Amino acid sequence: MDAHRDKAESRGMGLKYLKITGGAPLFGAVDIQGSKNAVLPVLAACLLGEGTCVVENCPRIGDVEDSLSILRSLGCSVEQNGNTVRINADKVESYSISAQEASRIRSSVLFLGALLGRMGRAVLPLPGGCAIGSRPIDLHLQALSQLGAVFVTEHAIDASAKRLRGAKISLRLPSVGATENTILAAVLADGETVIENTAREPEIDELCAFLKLRGAKIERLKNGSIQIRGVRSLHSAVYRMKPDRIVAGTYALAAAATQGRVAIRNFPHSELEIPAAVLKQMGAKLEREGAVTTVSAQERLRAVPYIETAPYPGFPTDLQSLVMAALCRAAGESRICETLFESRFRTAAELRKMGARISTQGSCACISGVSGLCPSSVEAPDLRGGAALVLAALQAQGSSMITGTQYIERGYEDICRDLRGLGADIVWESDETNETD
Ligand code: EPZ
Repeated sequence: MDAHRDKAESRGMGLKYLKITGGAPLFGAVDIQGSKNAVLPVLAACLLGEGTCVVENCPRIGDVEDSLSILRSLGCSVEQNGNTVRINADKVESYSISAQEASRIRSSVLFLGALLGRMGRAVLPLPGGCAIGSRPIDLHLQALSQLGAVFVTEHAIDASAKRLRGAKISLRLPSVGATENTILAAVLADGETVIENTAREPEIDELCAFLKLRGAKIERLKNGSIQIRGVRSLHSAVYRMKPDRIVAGTYALAAAATQGRVAIRNFPHSELEIPAAVLKQMGAKLEREGAVTTVSAQERLRAVPYIETAPYPGFPTDLQSLVMAALCRAAGESRICETLFESRFRTAAELRKMGARISTQGSCACISGVSGLCPSSVEAPDLRGGAALVLAALQAQGSSMITGTQYIERGYEDICRDLRGLGADIVWESDETNETD
């Protein structure tokens, strides 16, 4: 936890905003936290089987805290020591997640497959939509039904399965969550499951690596399908999470957008090939030395005529707001089309408050680069949009205030700590007092 946050919270004062005084380039080196989107299904997978699982390099973020709270509510024992979490599911007796627990985190839906696999039953509220879109789960429910789950109502998730049995499942869309839920339900099912048209995000491979370490039989076939042969039980394991590719992409774009030079010590290069190519198109330089990638830019960035988000290995939707913020001062006209989520342009309105020239029409946004951004008070519309506003404020000459920081804390372990380490003038502030460094 950031010292500033501790201090303010210890006095019982609510944290209101991030204050950023921009206009200076970022310089230095930064380590990337463990992956949020990989650790969430791994934590759900700890429900499957006995024994204690140890998850290392687990990011200390809101979504992890909420997932651990759900595991405790189900009867797991959970010990957290910095970035290491120990989870024992021997005494799990409940299969029901309360609305209060589930409503805090949309990805509580990932517990559905794991609860069916462990308990043969799962009761939890429908996850509903969120700031970026309606987020349906029809593909999850279809796939789990094919494994033998029976859903008794449409107003909540109330599923049971006497015995899950393997099936051949073809996903209509390469959904990350549906792929993960199906894997979680299939690993202890009777017989073989083959999932076609799966998501190929690296987070899927991390979940499979964790489960194989516990004794599951999972293979990614040559045609991209995933084959799972059900086993009777899983044993404990120690697993270290890989770096978060979206956080790495965030700081790489911040280095380029501020014309700085930042060494990203554990840059997941192979998982960011398309974003790296876009950064080079913008005029940034990426120098790789082993696990370290140094991102720099001397000149004003160049516009990128066309970027389209797509399932992995395409340009990640989670970096769409970030690249939009980095292109605000690029020379020329850029165009970004978002193909995955229908409400992921809400950051544009906040960026316009800072002088950005962005027009959106349908699923596309056009950015006309301006020579400078001006500081403003803005509000984070969602997790990655919040990080994008930080990136814009770093470029603006003067002090900006960003509220809605609870979104940012869901996915970034300590964006303030990380950016301060790169020379940024960024502090947590509260409305009752001005925090000082
Ligand atoms: C995961 O969400 C990530 N979240 C998202 O990251 C990420 O943006 C997304 O994958 C795409 O990469 C986690 O891993 C916790 P999807 P998920 O199912 O699983 C449609 C972040 O900022 N769809 O691959 O919900 C859906 O509407 C978050 O870290 C259905 O139609 O994404 C969307 O258009 C935001 N029916 C598309 O598929 C379904 O049953 C991709 O969604 C499921 C999905």
